[in-house]
Formats: sequence, structure tokens, C-alpha cells
Amino acid sequence: MTKAIDIIKDEHRSMGAVIKGLQQQLAAARNAGGEPDFHLFGAMLDYIEAFPDRRHHPKEDEYLFRFLRMRSAEAVPVLDQLEAEHARCADLLADLRAKLEAAREGTGLEGFSGALDAYAEFMWRHMATEEEVVLPLAEAQLTGEDWAAIDLAFAANRGSHWE
Ligand SMILES: [Fe+2]
Repeated sequence: MTKAIDIIKDEHRSMGAVIKGLQQQLAAARNAGGEPDFHLFGAMLDYIEAFPDRRHHPKEDEYLFRFLRMRSAEAVPVLDQLEAEHARCADLLADLRAKLEAAREGTGLEGFSGALDAYAEFMWRHMATEEEVVLPLAEAQLTGEDWAAIDLAFAANRGSHWE
């Protein structure tokens, strides 16, 4: 496995853990019926903005996807779909923040909870497509020189690395 593939999978695990953590914290808060830890939820959304949205997705678009577009016509439709999904992430996050703020103001947790579940589903599907469709195509079709450039970008711009 190349260094970049290793880092992408590791970063996906971190994103998945944060999203799952948000869902678990929210479920616990709803079961307890008390005031949820809004600060913690806000901090988790800050992480999603600071890392996946600002660093991970752009690295994929600018390096992995860009090289794969040059090498594989077969990959182009799925790369178009995934880049469009990356472009939607900021809006989805803004919607989560708005619903979290509404919940903080006392409108209940249902709106935030529904938006969070939809976001989690969207991100799981998105990351699964990257890992199950794009990475195998990239492994089969990119050259050693392509990987050297991609590995360098992913290793240099490695953001939040939680282990
Ligand atoms: Fe990704």
C-alpha cells in the first residue's frame, strides 16, 4: 500500500470516529433527557470543518483525483460525483451548525439529530466509494511517479492525526 493510501484510510477512520462519536453523544444526551454538551458538539463540528473539509477533501481533489483523471477515463464519472459531494460539504456543515444553534436555543434536538444522521449516512457512503472504487482504480492505474507526488502531498499536509 502506498503512503497516501495509508494516510487516506487513516484520515477516514478519524472522520468516521468523530461522526460516530457525535451520534453516540447525542443519543446519550437524548436518553438522559438533560442538557446536552453543546460545547462538545460544536467542537466536533469545528474539527470537521478544520480537517476533512479544509484539508482532506482538497488533497483528494488536487492530487489523487487529478492524477487519476489523467490515467483512467473509467474513473471520471465517479470522480465527478465525489468532487460534487466534496463541494456540498460546506453547506451540509453550515446546516448542522444552524440546527445545533436552534437546539441550543431550546427548539429540541430532533432537527439536529435528523441532520446529523443524514450527514453520517452521506459521509459513510462517500468514504466507502473512495475506498472501494477509487483507491483500487488508482492502485491499478497510477504510475510510480504519480504516487510519489501524491504521497508527498498527503504526508506533508497531514492535519489532525489522532492515534
Ligand atoms: Fe476521502
